[in-house]
Amino acid sequence: MLRRPRRNRKSAAIRSLVEETRLAVSDFIFPLFLIDGINQKVPVDSMPGIYRYSLDLMLEEIDSCLQLGISAFDIFPAYPEEKKDRFATESYREDTFYLKALRTIKQNFPQACVMTDVAMDPYNSDGHDGLVENGRILNDETLEILGKMTLAQAKAGADIIGPSDMMDGRVGYLRKLLDENGYKEVSIMSYTAKYASAFYNPFRDALDSAPKSGDKKTYQMDPANSREALIEGQLDLEEGADFLMVKPALAYLDIIQLLHQQFPLPIAAYNVSGEYAMIKASAANGWLDGERAMLESLLSIKRAGAKIILTYFAKEAAQIGL
Ligand code: PBG
Repeated sequence: MLRRPRRNRKSAAIRSLVEETRLAVSDFIFPLFLIDGINQKVPVDSMPGIYRYSLDLMLEEIDSCLQLGISAFDIFPAYPEEKKDRFATESYREDTFYLKALRTIKQNFPQACVMTDVAMDPYNSDGHDGLVENGRILNDETLEILGKMTLAQAKAGADIIGPSDMMDGRVGYLRKLLDENGYKEVSIMSYTAKYASAFYNPFRDALDSAPKSGDKKTYQMDPANSREALIEGQLDLEEGADFLMVKPALAYLDIIQLLHQQFPLPIAAYNVSGEYAMIKASAANGWLDGERAMLESLLSIKRAGAKIILTYFAKEAAQIGL
């Protein structure tokens, strides 16, 4: 036997020499859930270890993450039902708690990279990412609302906006609007290939944002398809996206790899709420080693070609040291 692959695995020292992929805390974007009020830290039942914070406690959380080396945060607001309407009007009301919080976060931590979510669902009484009329999700009318939301978030200090709505043409529409309004520096991380997935449920619990009727299959992608991701990627590239994102991550490693091979933009992957919940639930039952399963899945996402990982594990992974 001339070729004995095990020689390259014989000691920790050799294994670390041949190791091709290494996670870094700087790869992570940490999603955080914001609620109105003060001194609030409300657990998300389906995501053990994850909380909804009021601004004062979120500032403390961000501070402790920055000390661990996490410097990017994706902030999602959870609104009470009475603030929601069909047109997601609350999303661009200047004094709404989400926009005020973004301003305060940027004032306190100018060095932090703050990403925001552009989609109607947290503010929409229909629970959809777009405007609903007679059971249909209207594309072009939704763009106008997303535009107002985007400008309001840019004005509040967002560094990256994250359109997660999957409406056609939104990246180009939002890019143009940002440029025309003097926000040339605001980046766009497009949810390029976002699939109609069962893995978002814990997130919808966290935000109380599940659709009131129907599902998201007329705008989010069909899990059966990969070639469509190339069309989405091409459009986002042409429309000016700075990053392409695949979501969810673990059931879509092939899509991450495909976009990484086809497009020169940095690829991000969203390791979503259900992926987090699965590992947490089996670890709680003693069915697998939660820490090892976490690191192995994050590593797989990076190995597939994602440079950036949005993950609820960010803080935990940073705490154990990478
Ligand atoms: C909606 C949005 C969703 C997530 C991020 N933005 C849920 C959905 O599309 O229903 C999911 C994130 C997660 O599951 O962690 N605009």
